[in-house]
Amino acid sequence: MNFEGKLAAFQGIKTPFFYYDMELLQATIDEVKACIKDTNFHVHYAMKANVNEPLLKQIKKNGFGADCVSGNEIKRALSVGFLPEDIVFAGVGKSDEEIAYALDQDIFAFNCESLQEIEVINEFAKERKQIAKVALRLNPNVDPETHQYITTGLSENKFGISLDDLDAIFDQFPKWKHIRIEGIHFHIGSQVTKLEKYIELCERVNDLVLHFDDKGIKLTYINLGGGLGIDYENPEKNPIAPFKEYFGNVKKHLKVSPEMSIHFELGRSIVGQCGSLITKVLYTKDGASTNFLIVDGGMTELIRPALYQAHHKIISFAETNLEKKYDVVGPICETSDFFGKGITMNYSNRGDLIAILSAGAYAQVMASNYNLRDRAESVYSDQLT
Ligand code: LLP
Repeated sequence: MNFEGKLAAFQGIKTPFFYYDMELLQATIDEVKACIKDTNFHVHYAMKANVNEPLLKQIKKNGFGADCVSGNEIKRALSVGFLPEDIVFAGVGKSDEEIAYALDQDIFAFNCESLQEIEVINEFAKERKQIAKVALRLNPNVDPETHQYITTGLSENKFGISLDDLDAIFDQFPKWKHIRIEGIHFHIGSQVTKLEKYIELCERVNDLVLHFDDKGIKLTYINLGGGLGIDYENPEKNPIAPFKEYFGNVKKHLKVSPEMSIHFELGRSIVGQCGSLITKVLYTKDGASTNFLIVDGGMTELIRPALYQAHHKIISFAETNLEKKYDVVGPICETSDFFGKGITMNYSNRGDLIAILSAGAYAQVMASNYNLRDRAESVYSDQLT
């Protein structure tokens, strides 16, 4: 996130707003493209992280597919130009309407999360005289060691088909005439920073592919999901996620036939660092033990600190050499409405602008209008004069 030359323009924009550094987005995409060049790897951008059209268009233009988790995300993906054959549809609770819609669009794959879901898709495909292309989302029971609310690949999580239920699926398989199981899908969690977790996942996948082979099911692809973490502590130093190591681990440890394609669903690592929430200091309040900076953005724009105890780096654009320790809090009537506590930053006053960094993923998409607040605008670096 590079704010150089943008501050003057920021002064005229209604706060809070989201600012997207489109050059950083492109640099991030370029790094991914360099890592997957000359491989059979395919990246589907996980739209749940951010669905703003300029970002989607840029991602699409660079040749990535889309990973959607609702009928409306599929609609949005198609509307910005993603092709149906580049769209995967995941989600533990797909509605009948969403399944019918996705079948009508003839998307690349449904990532199925339960036996019952496969049966329903089979029925809907039968009515349409179609064969639905399916990947089984398996729960590999690998601990990603991330926050418990964004852990998905443990057997206690609601996601995926338990490995214990696989044999029941193999038994039922011949009965499903309108389903073609082409792949297996995994997603162990999000904001995963211990990259060795993906080695563990690859080893689990290697065994499972052999198991499918034994059962006579010829898989054509593996989908390893997303989850690669970003550096929330030092985003300026590490604006791009460690893609080299991440893809390198998969190249080295996934031992499947070279004819199989390998798919990824990266969300946060693509868009997380290019977005910032820009907010203005409304009031300062110095207490006995705490100095508050009360800003006009809040948990309605960025709920991650309140929901996942997430850390986001905060900087003040106030021009001064003085520093002070602050709790940076929002205006919402909730004690959990804060962005950071005990943060040392530039001495700031009413009217100064503050940036909450690394807010490109899971911020604007999770916004609400609690307290009947207005929605924050989006500002893109390439549209600022
Ligand atoms: N694929 C599946 C099946 C997923 O469930 C997710 C994220 C992704 C891909 C993309 O994961 P990523 O590369 O972005 O980590 N709101 C939370 C994150 C929720 C992630 C949900 N699933 C947060 O703010 O941390």
